Amino acid sequence: LENGLARTPPMGWNDWNAFGCNVTEQLVKQTADYLVSSGLKDAGYQYVNIDDCWMTSARNSAGQLVPDPVKFPDGISGTAAYVHGKGLKLGIYESAGTATCAGYPGSLGHEQTDANSFASWGVDYLKYDNCNHQNVPDQQRYTAMRDALANTGRPIVYSLCNWGLASVWTWGAGVGNSWRTTDDINVNFSTVVSIYKANVKLAAYAKPGAWNDPDMLEVGNGMSFTEDRSHFSLWAGMAAPLIAGNDMRSASAATLSLYGNKDVIAVDQDSLGKQGTEISSSGGLHVLTKPLAGGDVSVVLFNENSSAATITTSASAAGLPAASSYRLNNLWTHQISSTTGSIAAGVPGHGSVMYRVSVGSGTSVGTTHPLIGASSN
Ligand code: GLA
Repeated sequence: LENGLARTPPMGWNDWNAFGCNVTEQLVKQTADYLVSSGLKDAGYQYVNIDDCWMTSARNSAGQLVPDPVKFPDGISGTAAYVHGKGLKLGIYESAGTATCAGYPGSLGHEQTDANSFASWGVDYLKYDNCNHQNVPDQQRYTAMRDALANTGRPIVYSLCNWGLASVWTWGAGVGNSWRTTDDINVNFSTVVSIYKANVKLAAYAKPGAWNDPDMLEVGNGMSFTEDRSHFSLWAGMAAPLIAGNDMRSASAATLSLYGNKDVIAVDQDSLGKQGTEISSSGGLHVLTKPLAGGDVSVVLFNENSSAATITTSASAAGLPAASSYRLNNLWTHQISSTTGSIAAGVPGHGSVMYRVSVGSGTSVGTTHPLIGASSN
């Protein structure tokens, strides 16, 4: 959507994956505090997003949504003010139906009233779900909220959550800043892989302001470190929104080292705004490449299988111009190496090796940034 927002994929946090309906103002504020103190805000995580279950079960006499006064004693406006005071932005959730997925009042037919509430509270991001849609066509329902948000005059990132229905990628760019391309993610490696396989095919539809959304991250929620690292690498290689879905307040140093890898984040956030594509995929061994501004290319070698394998590609297959040597920056180990063209690595089961590949042979550390959380904790 050309509303000036989300020129790179949105980054932030959302409570749903780790907390379900148990969202509170305290959780939101503590997470905002933690994003600042951990360094994740400086790494780019900006939106602190409230998902379903933030409101009471009925509208007020003026027909407006009412924040649950027990969960949000300061309301959404007080919560937003706190989050803004930390230099962060606040997101909220609604559904383009008569009720949200958890059964709270939906926005269908109340689009302008609700958009006005969101704007008056200081909301900066809306995730707009698809439950209880009453068979009103998707484009009609999602366009109504787009226009209502625009009418408020407040910049609000608009995230469509219609689960990849109605070929949303073919019209999403005119309606929202991102659109969910699949069913819900969960803490399960095979779900992550199947979402990856569906979303990676949609690269042609993504561009600045308009992103495919393979759902929020499950990093830190119970998969193995190797699986979490693949999940994060693949989402970055697909220019996906990076919306953390864990309990940040208790994240381990290992989890923080994934969310906080600025070199991998730089691939996701690259200004060229290209979603990566698979240049090869056979027998569960995938090569995902993403062209970057300035001519570098990121390469993810991903092993879907449970046993280790060597994955091989080349600089020319990855789209780099002919040259006598190339520099490989391993974005997870920060080892720099040189190659005349072959790009290959032994990759553990469910694992990924991720490189930034440049023409030339320099061995300087270059764009490598320190890891967040890699030291003590
Ligand atoms: C749907 C969405 C999820 C979450 C829940 C909340 O399932 O896809 O991401 O927002 O609703 O009820």
